[in-house]
Amino acid sequence: MVKELQASIRTIMTPGPVEAEPRVLRAMSTPILGQYDPEFFALMQDVTDLLKMPFQTDNEWALAVDGTARAGLEAAVCGIIEHGDKVLVPAFGRFGYLMAELAQRAGAQVKIIEQEWGTIFDPKTVIDEIKAYNPKMLIMVHGETSTGQMQDLKEIGLFCKENDVLFMVDAVATFTGADFQTDAWGVDIAVAGTQKCLSVPTGMAPVTYNDKVEKILASRYQVELGLTKDVRNDRFISSNYLDLSQIQQYWGPKHINHHTEMTSMIYALREGLRIVHEEGLENRFARHRKHEKAMMTGLNAMGLTLFGDMSSKMPTVTCVNIPEGLDGEAVRATLLHHYGVEIASSFGSLAGKIWRIGNMGFSSRKENVLHTLNALEASITFHGGKIAKGEAAQAALKFYNEN
Ligand SMILES: Cc1ncc(COP(=O)(O)O)c(C=O)c1O
Repeated sequence: MVKELQASIRTIMTPGPVEAEPRVLRAMSTPILGQYDPEFFALMQDVTDLLKMPFQTDNEWALAVDGTARAGLEAAVCGIIEHGDKVLVPAFGRFGYLMAELAQRAGAQVKIIEQEWGTIFDPKTVIDEIKAYNPKMLIMVHGETSTGQMQDLKEIGLFCKENDVLFMVDAVATFTGADFQTDAWGVDIAVAGTQKCLSVPTGMAPVTYNDKVEKILASRYQVELGLTKDVRNDRFISSNYLDLSQIQQYWGPKHINHHTEMTSMIYALREGLRIVHEEGLENRFARHRKHEKAMMTGLNAMGLTLFGDMSSKMPTVTCVNIPEGLDGEAVRATLLHHYGVEIASSFGSLAGKIWRIGNMGFSSRKENVLHTLNALEASITFHGGKIAKGEAAQAALKFYNEN
């Protein structure tokens, strides 16, 4: 007999997923409503309304694609891109390359420009590339969790707007944790995630897009066989499940059936967004910045060095250089198994070289920061790392006392 489910209680300090808000978990145990129940449609409408403030947009459309953030990214790409379209992707970490991969699979002619990991693009470099390549769409990541870097988007977005280039942004790791302005930065379509700064479990991807994108989707809309044989389209979107034109029709006033909506995730997302509205966006950003500074203060006091350009550092992720000769994975295992603390490793050329410590949503709290610092100090020492002992938590406590 398989035992009753019992998951350990963790302190999750990765760049996602992070600890879920307790209120969100309670909301998820609300009884199921049918997908055509007017009461359920009203909850979906609440989600649309609640999404606009944190996206900082007046767009008509804000909805959630079922699936992880990648589902929202893929839905955005395959809804807009048609075979042969030119797409420019400036990549400064793993998730930039993911965008190039999605665009390639959608049939785009993709040009990737690269930036050393740990830094961001000078907006002028991107603008010059747009002038040279003349793409239909530019895709950029706002917060690159693989390197802990956050790209300035405003100048690039406004250039795109003036020059009729569509601008898509992956705001998965910054949404509700750092300032992200859909409208003011000229973003045509933005995609977020639930399991990061929103502290809702993984499983939905909030998306917002403007009229320009809506027009493209509408021009490709095809009603499914089985509903009608009449609405066929030569330019139909190749994915059925991730067809934003159909998903929009399901979220819209006609509620034309597409998939069976994830009832419990709608409850969860709605509650997570209600918490964001209660806290206020500016307060939420300030909270993330405060705990980021406390963590950095403690790490520095321990004698650890941080990875990447500090002037473009994400407030929601801190990347730490693993001291020479130390087995980073052994330290992570001790953290997890003895302290219940999870931090992340990294990818590609940074694998084994840095740890990534998240500072997101409900996990962005004083007790998590202090517990992580103490646990990290003990685990590094246990594995023979040479660091200053007894300093980290004291420095962070002093910081909290003064801030
Ligand atoms: C910046 C960024 N983009 C996209 C993703 C993909 O999100 P998901 O794993 O929810 O599909 C992640 C996940 O870590 C991410 O950090």
